[in-house]
Amino acid sequence: MSEIIISPSILSADFANLERDIKAVEKAGADWIHVDVMDGHFVPNITIGSPVVKSLRAVTDLPLDVHLMIENPEKYIEPFAKAGADIITFHYEAVATENIQSIIDNIKSFGIKAGMSIKPKTSADEILKYLPQLDMLLVMTVEPGFGGQKFMQDCAEKIPTIKANAPDNLIIQVDGGINAETAKICTNLGATSLVAGNYIYKAEDIEQAIKSLR
Ligand code: DX5
Ligand code: ZN
Repeated sequence: MSEIIISPSILSADFANLERDIKAVEKAGADWIHVDVMDGHFVPNITIGSPVVKSLRAVTDLPLDVHLMIENPEKYIEPFAKAGADIITFHYEAVATENIQSIIDNIKSFGIKAGMSIKPKTSADEILKYLPQLDMLLVMTVEPGFGGQKFMQDCAEKIPTIKANAPDNLIIQVDGGINAETAKICTNLGATSLVAGNYIYKAEDIEQAIKSLR
């Protein structure tokens, strides 16, 4: 696998043709498939649940990178893990701090990777103590909820602090407004995984778009 993990977000795919659109990015060199789960409470938008992940599991061997933008994520870890998620990322802002460790443990108990995500207004300092327990930290570079928004550079600038305080193997992922130009900014700051929805799915040449992110 290449050094930077590219995870196309199917939020920008055609939901009536998910298998076709997953095969397209798979063929074009994607490393993971990013699945945005939204509940209409933690974020204003509603997307998909674990039955869809189960169906996607049957059509791809790529790791399914499930980004939970939902309240009470602890209730849904088991269904998403059993549906075939390989990485489950919950939001720091959606849980009580005293529950964070048990949520991470619960995700790992299924033998999959545990990720935690921070929204634009959450500082890096607040979450540093959790880094040794995590497999991935997801830095949102837009307000979660919708694809196609503008990249916020000040959010990406949290990455060096995170990197300086993280174990070497922590995956640092960015999500929101990623294109060839903003990808460079993020990887130069230390990001090791990039999520991109619109930039990949609206591209005329998907393979070229993925290449341009590396
Ligand atoms: C936003 C989602 C993102 C979204 C990114 O809340 O978490 O994964 O799909 O879309 P783009 O790359 O279009 O900003
Ligand atoms: Zn996402």
